[in-house]
Amino acid sequence: MTDIKINHLTKVFGGVRAVDDLTIYIVDGIATGLIGPNGSGKTTLMNLITGLLRPDCGTIEIGSKTFDNINPRDLRELHIARTFQDGRLVDQLSVEDNLLLAIAENDTGKSLLQINIGPMRQRLEQTLKQIGLTAHRKKTAEELSYGQRKLLELGRALIQDADIYLLDEPFSGLQEQMVEHVLGLISELKKQKKTVVIIEHNMGLIKQIADKLIVLDHGQLLTSGTPNAVLKNKAVQQAYLGV
Ligand SMILES: Nc1ncnc2c1ncn2[C@@H]1O[C@H](COP(=O)(O)OP(=O)(O)OP(=O)(O)O)[C@@H](O)[C@H]1O
Ligand SMILES: [Mg+2]
Repeated sequence: MTDIKINHLTKVFGGVRAVDDLTIYIVDGIATGLIGPNGSGKTTLMNLITGLLRPDCGTIEIGSKTFDNINPRDLRELHIARTFQDGRLVDQLSVEDNLLLAIAENDTGKSLLQINIGPMRQRLEQTLKQIGLTAHRKKTAEELSYGQRKLLELGRALIQDADIYLLDEPFSGLQEQMVEHVLGLISELKKQKKTVVIIEHNMGLIKQIADKLIVLDHGQLLTSGTPNAVLKNKAVQQAYLGV
């Protein structure tokens, strides 16, 4: 079991308590939607879980291990992959090099020039097919459409064959067809009993894909539970709509 338990986690930026004494439980093998108004600490929480930020206090338990802070190199051992809200593509590199770079950085800690591509071929082909970019593999990332870039960003997580996927707004700005594509890819992860955390602002979408919702507000837990129960909650409606 690789449940993630966040215990009294806190991250302060200047005067802003981005994550504020947060205690939550992310259940292994299901899709959890992480929602909350802009600035409520969702991305900061992902950055803490993936070691990009160091907590001011609190701990992160992943499976049987407890961390005061996570070293980005630990991610390989923990089998965690993530996507970024603003993307992490290298514009001048090809689609396939962007995918291989994700393995090089997170699986081996090596540069693109140092890795042996041979054993990764199959995984590369599979990922290109999953994200529908096989025909565009030699294009540079900057030649892709916005939607294709979002899929490539997701592909950089998928190619790592992780146990835990943290996806920061994988649907944002996508047109309907691309939304369906991403929904399909996440459904596939769910079928494989992977642990998936999805940040999303569109409540209709998150209701479709998440088994459980966690709602943040001002860095704190507002509520959690089944999507139906959470979205009916008055405090959640207030936090979103300010009514
Ligand atoms: N590196 C940083 N330096 C200073 N303040 C930051 C930093 N990162 C986040 N913050 C602040 O912390 C708070 C939480 O930001 P965060 O990006 O985690 O919110 P979010 O829930 O992901 O919002 P959104 O839905 O808009 O992406 C905000 O007030 C933000 O301005
Ligand atoms: Mg964010």
